[in-house]
Formats: sequence, C-alpha cells, structure tokens
Amino acid sequence: MDVLVIGSGAREHALVAALERDPSVDGLCCAPGNAGIAVDTATEPVDVSDPAAIAALAQRLGVDLVVIGPEVPLVAGAADALAEAGVACFGPSAAAARLEGSKAFAKEIMAAANVATAAAHSCDDLDAVAAALDELGAPHVVKDDGLAAGKGVIVTNDRDAALAHATACINARSRVLVEEYLDGPEVSLFCITDGTTVVPLRPAQDFKRVGENDEGPNTGGMGAYTPLDWAPPNLTEEVVRDIAQPTIDEMRRRGTPFVGVLYVGLALTSKGTRVVEFNARFGDPETQSVLAMLTSPLGELLNAAAHGRLGERPPLTWRDGASVTVVLAADGYPSAPRAGDPIVVEGGPVPGTLILHAGTKTNGDQVLSAGGRVLSVVSVGQDLADARARAYRQLDSIHLPGSHYRRDIAAKAERGDITVP
Ligand code: AMP
Ligand code: GLY
Repeated sequence: MDVLVIGSGAREHALVAALERDPSVDGLCCAPGNAGIAVDTATEPVDVSDPAAIAALAQRLGVDLVVIGPEVPLVAGAADALAEAGVACFGPSAAAARLEGSKAFAKEIMAAANVATAAAHSCDDLDAVAAALDELGAPHVVKDDGLAAGKGVIVTNDRDAALAHATACINARSRVLVEEYLDGPEVSLFCITDGTTVVPLRPAQDFKRVGENDEGPNTGGMGAYTPLDWAPPNLTEEVVRDIAQPTIDEMRRRGTPFVGVLYVGLALTSKGTRVVEFNARFGDPETQSVLAMLTSPLGELLNAAAHGRLGERPPLTWRDGASVTVVLAADGYPSAPRAGDPIVVEGGPVPGTLILHAGTKTNGDQVLSAGGRVLSVVSVGQDLADARARAYRQLDSIHLPGSHYRRDIAAKAERGDITVP
C-alpha cells in the first residue's frame, strides 16, 4: 500500500521510520516533512492547517492511507476532508478530535463515561477563577481551553501567577480551566482504535519541563522512555478497561466515533489512576521510543484501524530491552527559540540510535535549525542504562550553537527512584 504521512516533527520522522520497516508499505511520502525525513523519503509541500489541500494532495498521489501526525489538521477537519474524498485516514474527525481541542469537552466526555480525572472548574471570569483557586487549594493548575502545543498549562504555588495566567487565557478565549492538582508520576499510553476496538501500545513517560529535575516552564516534551518497570504490572489493562474503552464507547454513542490514536495522559496519584489529558494523536517525544520497540508492522495496524478492522489483527509484538529519547532544543526554547544555526554531526552514527529531525531545514549542504525542538535522538538498548548511554553518546556528537537538552531523561527510572504514592 502507499501511505502519506502528514506533519513535520520528530514524531512524523519516527512514524516514517516505522512504516518503512513494514513490508506491506510499498510507497511512502511525508508532507511537508523536514530536512531529516527528506534524506530517505519523498516529501511534498502542504499547508497542514488546510484540510482541502491535504485531501487534494492525497488524491493527486493516489495513496491508500493517510496518517495524520499533528493535532492542528485533525482539529481543522483533515480526516473529514479525506473521508469526503474517499481516502482512508488514520486520525479522528474534527468532532472526535475535540477530545484534544477542548479540555472542557474532554471533561464532559469523561464525566459521561465515568472516567476518573482531576476535578475542574470551567471559568469565564476572574471572580470564578479566584473562587476555584481557593476551593481547590495549592498547588494551582490553570489550563488554556484550546490547543497550546503543551504550553497552555501552569502548575504553581503562586496564586498571583495562577491568576495572571488565567487572565491571559480568558482574554484569548473567554474561558479557562482551573483544576485539582494531581500528585504522582505521569504516564502516557497510546491506544490505537477503529472507533470500537482498542489496542494499547506500551506505556511511556514524557518529561514536560525544560530543565533537569523537572524545573522551569512546560514544553512540548524534552524526552521519553519505555518500558516503565516501576509502574503497576496491570496498568495497561486497567487503563483500557476503565478509561480508553469507555471513552471510545461514549464517542461512538454520540455519533462521533473516534478513529486514530487516543493519547491517554495519566497521573498515578495517591487516590488512584487519573486522566491528566487526552490527545487525539501520537505524543511527541514518547512516540519515538514506543515505535522503536514495536516489531509488529505499523502500516498494517494503522490501516486496519482506518478500515474498522482492528479486531482482526494479531496481538502486537515488541522487542526486548528499553528505548530512550532525548530532545535537542534550540537556544531560547521554549520562550523564544532562535532559528538558523548550523547543525553539525561529528563521526558516524552510534549503534542502536537514530537522529529524528523536527525543526530543521536545509540550506545548500548545511542543515540549519528551524524550530524550538530541533531534533530527537532515539535509542534502543538492552536496558535503560544501555539505552541512555547510547542516546547521550550520540548527543555528544551533535553540535548546535546555544542548544540544550536534559541529561536526566530516564535517570530516576534507571536508579529505581520512581514510586507511585
Ligand atoms: P496538559 O496540557 O493538560 O497535558 O498539561 C501539561 C502538563 O501539565 C502535564 O503533563 C502535567 O505535567 C501538568 N499538569 C496538567 N494538569 C495537571 C494537574 N491537574 N495536576 C498536576 N499537573 C498537571
Ligand atoms: N508528549 C506531549 C505531547 O505530545 O503532547
């Protein structure tokens, strides 16, 4: 089959790399892609926020399946435009992608499906915000109600900072969410679904804060790893049974079935497993590590989901060991990333690693930075220690002026220092 992947990040580079390993994928194209994807894969320009342009490209290329990476095209209705054009699509309709596009909608679905999540107040003025902050107490969690690339949330003990963020959100969108604080480690579980059947991938952990020891502002994600040896052994089954399946059933019941990947962001709290957020797509950077471990053919899996035939697939298979992903970010990321710096990779590739591009572009023979998260290094190894060593060895050889990365990705897990309260 011929597959078109939409997007331009390291997640899409990981999707392309995994699809290339699937013998049933004969042709592969990525739009718009990036400098790293273009080395081995055909790319086409496209405006990802334009559903009609995505559908027209898919028709022109005559592809059998479109896999949509980012949330922006999904929320804009790319899956709907593809359905109208008669092209199979892995990714939810705009109506179903509201699970990510509106946090208030996600809360409504969770309430209807009896899914455990943080208590929340949807507020449209500052008096309501102040009352909610006082009722829920510190630490305060204040969330933008729309898409914000992982940067719309603040978690703070500072009531004035919480109020200031709420003011900015209300000014932008006339609504803001104030949430109960969830203690405990976070887990991401990606659930592939055809709208009825749910097939979970393996849980991974993401590092949202820019700095080591989880300090500094939230980002789109600075690193990830899998497996989570510290997590309860039945976590995946529990999350499918109590969270993903009831959510998918509720979406279908409402006449807006969700087809694609439901990203379940969880906190394992002292009161039990709680949903932090839903996303309507693969997470970045967790996808890089999760797909590095998957040995089942990814194209067949996503195509089965797009055609409502997930129930017919054999169980997924995985390689042994562990995978670590470390994101290399540009100078100034996340507040004001600088672009246009040259990226130089010294020496040959470290065995067991891949350099997956995100914010990069070519200029003649040079590769230049062109975004906040510039690239990620994903590694596989026999265990976390081995995978970490390989990833960091590869990072040592990558030179980008002013860039930074976290040196503590998966370090606590390697030391056995993560506990569930
Ligand atoms: P979200 O945009 O909802 O994914 O939130 C981004 C990040 O903010 C999460 O991954 C958490 O690290 C943090 N966060 C969000 N909601 C909460 C919460 N209720 N309690 C604690 N941390 C949270
Ligand atoms: N890993 C965070 C995200 O993809 O939203």
